[in-house]
Amino acid sequence: MSRVRWLWVLIAGTFLMAGPSAVSAAQFDKVIEGRQQLMKDIGQAGKGLRSATAPASVAASADELAEALAKINADTFPKGSADGSRAKPEIWEQWDEFAAKAKNAVTLAQDIAAKARAGESTAELVKSFGKNACGSCHRPFRKPKQKS
Ligand code: HEC
Repeated sequence: MSRVRWLWVLIAGTFLMAGPSAVSAAQFDKVIEGRQQLMKDIGQAGKGLRSATAPASVAASADELAEALAKINADTFPKGSADGSRAKPEIWEQWDEFAAKAKNAVTLAQDIAAKARAGESTAELVKSFGKNACGSCHRPFRKPKQKS
């Protein structure tokens, strides 16, 4: 091997040793910021759904919600990304349960969209959506708001 190559091996080795922990902590910061923004968008879409009256707008808001809620997954909640966020460690201890809550929320939003398109009443579903879709996951899996 040439001396230049050895130098590269040395440099690469130094980078590897610099620590995966520092790298992953920074990665989590970004992912946490991203998913908190996702939740804020979901909150906005939820408001849109509650204030919609025409069936077409109800359906459109519900579609938007379903799409956003489908992003609650292992990409937005990578294992262990709890520190500095309101995500409880239980999320990863009971991942199937957490994933089921996310899926349930998507299904509920899709139901509302389908009913609105079919001309059926959605008022009751919309009313209970916050509790059934959002609250049912927040209660077990979200820490209370930090007082700052
Ligand atoms: C499958 C679980 C799950 C579902 C479903 C869910 N959330 Fe969340 N939500 C969380 C978790 C966990 C956090 C904390 C995330 C963090 O701090 O990184 C959160 C945080 C939030 C926040 C705070 C964001 C911020 O500013 O930091 C809002 C607002 C929110 N959710 C709204 C909603 C609404 C509205 C719904 C329903 C339409 C919903 N969520 C459905 C798990 C869920």
